[in-house]
Amino acid sequence: MTLNSDLPHSQVLTQNRGPARVFAMVNQSGGAGKTTSAVNIGACAAEYGWKVLIVDADAQCDASVACGYEPDLMTGVATLYDVLLGIASFEETIVPALAGPHGTKGTAPIENLFISLASSNLEDAEQLLGPKTGREFWMRGLIDSVRDQYDLIIIDCPGNLGLVVVNAIVACDEVIGCVKPGWKELRALTRIELKIEEIQNVFGGVKAFLSKVLVVDVPLHRNQGAVYDDSKKKVTTAYADKMLPMVRRSPRIPEAYAAQRALRFFDRAGEATQDYYNVTKMVGFPRRKS
Ligand SMILES: Nc1ncnc2c1ncn2[C@@H]1O[C@H](COP(=O)(O)OP(=O)(O)O)[C@@H](O)[C@H]1O
Ligand SMILES: [Mg+2]
Repeated sequence: MTLNSDLPHSQVLTQNRGPARVFAMVNQSGGAGKTTSAVNIGACAAEYGWKVLIVDADAQCDASVACGYEPDLMTGVATLYDVLLGIASFEETIVPALAGPHGTKGTAPIENLFISLASSNLEDAEQLLGPKTGREFWMRGLIDSVRDQYDLIIIDCPGNLGLVVVNAIVACDEVIGCVKPGWKELRALTRIELKIEEIQNVFGGVKAFLSKVLVVDVPLHRNQGAVYDDSKKKVTTAYADKMLPMVRRSPRIPEAYAAQRALRFFDRAGEATQDYYNVTKMVGFPRRKS
């Protein structure tokens, strides 16, 4: 099967690096900043000289869109769903991330940044995985097969704790819990920790743990009210050793998504962009020396 043949495939998997550190961006709700963070941490680490793969594991395909692709509107494109069906290899789903929408004049591949594409039929993943033997370990096999080719792999999860997310947790080394500030939002972190614990208890050899907490969409101005102040204080106290620098609220973030651009190509000097450079350093990917 020849897939993704008209895409800039030749640059995929050129220099081998690794073995990659593998992160899963997790929150059981949508709208928690997972995709924004996956794409922008990936884009910053790529600029810093690390070879990065983002795995779009969400049927909403937002990471694919943010990296320039709309697989649902493209023909002959291999996605994670095709891998699940057994009609494409994982490597066939991997294309260079783009600094703008695919097919637009002047849109160039982003150096060092790659994406494994998703399509909306990934919605059926839970049903397809259900009867598989070793169904929780499907993604680990895929990730392990390319681990040696990247420095950093980021799995962008859907907003639930279903079988695909269990797969991502089993496949990764570390979970980053993404949350917006607020009481309801912060309770998500406890559920993520319990889910990881449950997975570790059921399966041997799962090393993932909640290693980092990333609070995004933080209002720039003080005086947001007692609930907001309390919740911010609570998360910084409860997760003091895991806290990444917070990402400030910025209208540039939804604008960049609508333009299908990573922030560094949309608002390079902006506050949120600078926040993501800092987050990337703290995740362990500062500017590469060599
Ligand atoms: N720092 C921020 N400032 C403003 N809007 C943000 C910020 N972070 C995320 N958003 C917006 O919040 C929404 C949800 O973010 P997204 O990354 O798609 O979350 P998830 O992947 O968890 O569903 C999007 O519309 C996104 O543009
Ligand atoms: Mg998302």
